[in-house]
This record gives sequence, C-alpha cells and structure tokens, in this order.
Amino acid sequence: MNTIMTSIAAASTGSTNLQLLSGINERFLRSMSHNLRDHCPFLRSMTITASTTTLGDNFQKKCPFGRALFHTNEDSHVLLPTSEDSVRTAHFHNAADVQTKQPKQDHGVDILGLLKMKNHSSHKPAGLSKEHIRQKSFGNLIDNMKKNGTYRTFNHIDRKNGSFPLADNRLDLKPSHISSSTYNQEAQRDIIVWCNNDYLGMGQNKLVLEGMKNTIDSFGAGSGGTRNISGTTSIHVLLEKELAEIHQKESALLFSSCYAANASVIPTLMKIMPPGTTIYSDEKNHASLIEGIRNSGAPRKIFHHNDLDHLREILSQSDPEVPKMIIFESVYSMDGTIAPIKEICDLADQYNAFTFIDEVHAVGLYGPHGGGVAEERGLLDRLDIVSGTLGKAFGMYGGYIAADSVLIDSIRSTCPGFIFTTSLPPVVVGGALESVRYLKTHGEERAIARENSLTLKRMLREAKLPLLESESHIVPVIVGDAKLCKLMSDALLTKYKIYVQPINYPTVPKGPERFRLTATPVHSIKDITYLVQSLSKLWKEFGLSQ
Ligand SMILES: Cc1ncc(COP(=O)(O)O)c(C=O)c1O
Repeated sequence: MNTIMTSIAAASTGSTNLQLLSGINERFLRSMSHNLRDHCPFLRSMTITASTTTLGDNFQKKCPFGRALFHTNEDSHVLLPTSEDSVRTAHFHNAADVQTKQPKQDHGVDILGLLKMKNHSSHKPAGLSKEHIRQKSFGNLIDNMKKNGTYRTFNHIDRKNGSFPLADNRLDLKPSHISSSTYNQEAQRDIIVWCNNDYLGMGQNKLVLEGMKNTIDSFGAGSGGTRNISGTTSIHVLLEKELAEIHQKESALLFSSCYAANASVIPTLMKIMPPGTTIYSDEKNHASLIEGIRNSGAPRKIFHHNDLDHLREILSQSDPEVPKMIIFESVYSMDGTIAPIKEICDLADQYNAFTFIDEVHAVGLYGPHGGGVAEERGLLDRLDIVSGTLGKAFGMYGGYIAADSVLIDSIRSTCPGFIFTTSLPPVVVGGALESVRYLKTHGEERAIARENSLTLKRMLREAKLPLLESESHIVPVIVGDAKLCKLMSDALLTKYKIYVQPINYPTVPKGPERFRLTATPVHSIKDITYLVQSLSKLWKEFGLSQ
C-alpha cells in the first residue's frame, strides 16, 4: 500500500494540487477525488500540494475511508470510476445482488488489483479451512446417510428397446450397444422393471422412435441455442400447439423439464401478479412446486393433503381483497392419491383464486386425449395453469405449462428458467410430438395400463401384502424402514430379477418407506403374478407379517 501511494506521490512533479496523482488516468482521478472528498473529512481538510509526499501514509493511517479502500474484503470495494455500462443492473438481478465492476484502466495503475495481490500473499484467509468444511459438512452428511439407510446408490438399468419392461442391470459401465465380443460385459440380464414412469411404454413406441430418427436426420443433434437464439424450430412450436390442445388452452410453453417449469414459473407468476398475492399449497406438493413457491417469496399457506375443509377454512380467513393462487397436483406420485379437483376449483371460484395444477403423473395416461385427470373429469376449463411432463407417460423428456395466451406470453417474455437455457433438442421434441399425437387418438395403452394396475392391486390384496390403497395407477407397498427397504430391494433384484427401487426420505417422510410399483401395458399377467409371488416370498424371508 505504502509503496503504491508513494509511487503515486513520486509520480507527481507538477505544481497544481491534483497533479500529485498524475500517474493515474484522468477519469479515475476525478472519481476518486470526488469519492474520497465526499467521505473523508481528513482529505477534505487537507491541502495537497506537489510537495505532499506523505499523503499515502497519512491517508491510510488517519482516514477510515482510506483504510476501507485498501481492505481485502470484497464487499468494501469502493465504486471506482465507471464507463456508462460498467455498472449495469442486469434485468433479472435484484439491485442488491449487483456487484460493482472494476473499470478498465486505459493506462496508469490498477490499484485495487495490486492491493489484492499484496494482501493475498500476506494474509491467511479467516474462518474455517476448506478441508475442515469438506470433512465436517460434506463428509459427515454422507456418513450419516450411510448410517441411517438414506444414502442413494444408482443401479445401471439399461432398458431393452422392444422388450420393455425387460432391462439389463449393468454391473460395469461399458456401453451396452457395443458388442460383447469387444467388451467383456458383466450384467444381470433380463430383469423386470417395476418402478418405471414410462407409464405407457411409449419409450419403445415405433412411431415415436421413427419420429426421433427422422428428426435427427433432418435437424441434427442439439438445438443450438436458447429459444430466443435460434433454438425455436417449427417442431417446438408444433409441439406447443398440440400440448395446448390436449389441455384445451390457448397456448403452451416448453421447458427443459417440469421441475424447471414449476420451479421457475411460480416465482415469475408471483412477480407479475399484484404484490401480496397469497399461495395456497397442498402439503404433499412435489419438491419442484415447493421450490417455486419458496423462491417466489410470496405469502403462503399450506393446507392438509386433499383436505377441502382445511382449504376452505384458511381461505375464509383471508382478506377478500388479496389475490390468491391455489397450487396442487392431480395425481400424487408417492401415495397415488388424486385431488378433488372440482371441489378445489369450486373453492377457487368462491374465493376468487387462480388455480395451478401439476398433472405430471396424469398427462398421457388419463383423459380421452391424454389431457390428464382434469380432462377425464371434464374440468379443463376450471383450471388456469396446467404443468405437465413429457418424461413420464409420453415416454420422452421435457416439461411444459399450458394456460391462456396472455399468461403464457408473459411467462415466455419474463421467466428466467425459460429464457436463459438451451431449448430442448429437436430429436426430443420430434419424439414427443409423435407421442402426444399418438396418445391423443389412441386409448388402448391407457386401457391396458388401467386394467393391469387393478389386477396388481387385487393380487397384492389377496396375498395380504401391505398395499396402500389408492384410486390412481400408482401402487405403493409399505415397508416402513429405510434400511430394510434398501435390503429388500437388493434381494428382490439379485434373487428374483425384479427391479423396484427403495423409496426413502426425502422422497417420502421417514417412516412410511416403501416400494412404488407401476403396472404398464407392457407388463403381462405373468409378470404381475411373478411379482406378487416374489414379494410374498420376500416378506416371509425378512420375517415381516402379511
Ligand atoms: C409432481 C411432479 N411434478 C414435477 C415433476 C418434475 O417433472 P420432470 O421429471 O419433467 O422434471 C415430478 C417428477 O417426478 C413430479 O413428480
């Protein structure tokens, strides 16, 4: 510091006061003198002449502002002179988040840069060491998860196109499409997958695969940009039209996933809607909805799961003037419960609330055109915003929302999670387009899936296995202990070649850990029978009551 200030002083030989600092560029000089004089009584009262060579020392010793200027703490950086655009407020940042930028120096000395280097070399950083944090925070977290059975391991489940629900459990990581004469592949072959969200087997539908092949031949691999930067192809727009149609809405908007849609659309809605808009959220809402609600910062009230009396009670306590939005799902994926959509919409009408429904586990699978439970129950026009996924019953990947065009246009124009990300690859969009179109006009898969699901539930009941009753296609079987759930899942795979992953915390609360079974149209009656027999044996082997 002294060296620098001394060199500044030494650089000056002129007769006017400010020529003392003539080694630095003109703009810097002006701004710095302004800032310093504004803040520093010492400097204000000082007469600086060409012979003032102790300025640096005195400035640092006596003036608190001078000390702050040369402090290592990033936050205490003084605003240095800027060109017009060097301190810009990014549109989507809070003003408080915007950091001051250091100016580009045309010539002269980058004082703060030099000071930082000097301070870096002479100070040990304060606070806990990185190693300590690595051990205590990250290491302990993983150790604890391993101890309490919530640590997650991923099996390598290579689905076999044309033979779903069969898959190979790959014990190595050699690419399965490369011939086994080249690689010694280690795999447990032809396991039966019972926990898949490809609810209708569309992942191996011939039209979908053909659509993907054609799209890749025409468009190549990636989209090459965000939606704004050449990432909107004609098939992105066509897919949005189809999605809007199945939900009988004016418009739809694609997202990278429905997680991304929920998590980013809700905060954007809350920014657009009047301040104070209050969210009413079902307590069992998915993590993506909760993240969106939390990040919105909007006032929120949680109602008991599917509990209309509770929802009515908290709505009735609200200020009628305050705008409201009720956020809920149609099918809850872990318990298999279905929301009383009509009654929720009735309450929404009574209390003038918007409705936002997540139909992720229902789109494609429910309703004559795959428009979800709302379509099946004739309630599409009662819902303001629908979110859905292409990754489950449609057998592809990606998420979307559908709503009135003014609403969609507002989200399209302002939602960071839509704007600032590469658009879905055309190959995914091409496959999804085929899948959505197919399920719009074909009900066969839906009918068989429903039948299989009913058969599975009936057989589980007959075997006295702990089925959690539900009206949807989701079939939970409660184990009730995280470690046991993992052990039983492993045993099911190694001994019976059945794959059902354990569902533990945080996907479900601690206590009702479970298997979550999904019967699809590609499961046969033989598969269902074998599953129930194997589960019965497993329950006996683990000494569990039936
Ligand atoms: C209710 C619900 N909403 C949203 C999502 C996220 O959907 P996606 O897989 O498209 O990100 C999920 C994922 O399982 C979900 O269960």
